[in-house]
Amino acid sequence: MKKGLFITFEGADGCGKTTQLKLAAEYLQKKGEIVLVTREPGAKGLGEKLRDILLNYDGVVSDRCEAFLFLADRAQHIDTIVTPAVESGKIVLCDRHIDSTVAYQGYGRGQDIEQINKLNMLATGNKKPDLTIVFDVDVETSMARVGAEKDRMESAGREFFNRVRFGYLEIAKQESERVRVLDATKSIEDVQKDVIKLIDSLF
Ligand code: TYD
Repeated sequence: MKKGLFITFEGADGCGKTTQLKLAAEYLQKKGEIVLVTREPGAKGLGEKLRDILLNYDGVVSDRCEAFLFLADRAQHIDTIVTPAVESGKIVLCDRHIDSTVAYQGYGRGQDIEQINKLNMLATGNKKPDLTIVFDVDVETSMARVGAEKDRMESAGREFFNRVRFGYLEIAKQESERVRVLDATKSIEDVQKDVIKLIDSLF
């Protein structure tokens, strides 16, 4: 059986990646591919419970605990959902993955980047996506898109999101083969065209 693909969508909150992920799924389904849409944190099952803690718990969450909770969610997700789907030939489109932890907990919260890279590899069993698309927008635009109702992560402030954005651009510089950056301030239609070009290049 032909192996599938694992493609991740990344960027700061409000960058528009979730909309683009849905459009990419429709595009691939029309081409006859079997697509699985999933996300981190919070895929089906245990992931939903971890997501609730990560986004809604209103007590103190230490920075290291936060990193480990995202990593725990990732390990469960890769083992029980992503790997079986890729091995059965599906195209897995995932909203956030390893690079979110580097950008948010590493660059955003100031946790050691090298350690996070190692822990990410422990969580995934040393696997990386076939392609990662980073949707890049300035912080003003992304915060305006998020609006007034913010979850625990979105409430972290402008300086935090500047660091997250810088983090994503650094990751893309270091892994330019896997990680591709798109200008997400363009119209939905124009960004979609750019996404399709990148995805088509994998076939
Ligand atoms: P979500 O509502 O899924 O946001 P978005 O639609 O922007 O993806 O919330 C996920 C939040 O968790 C988001 O603020 C990014 C954050 N996050 C991390 O900080 N580290 C991680 O490893 C992951 C996967 C997400």
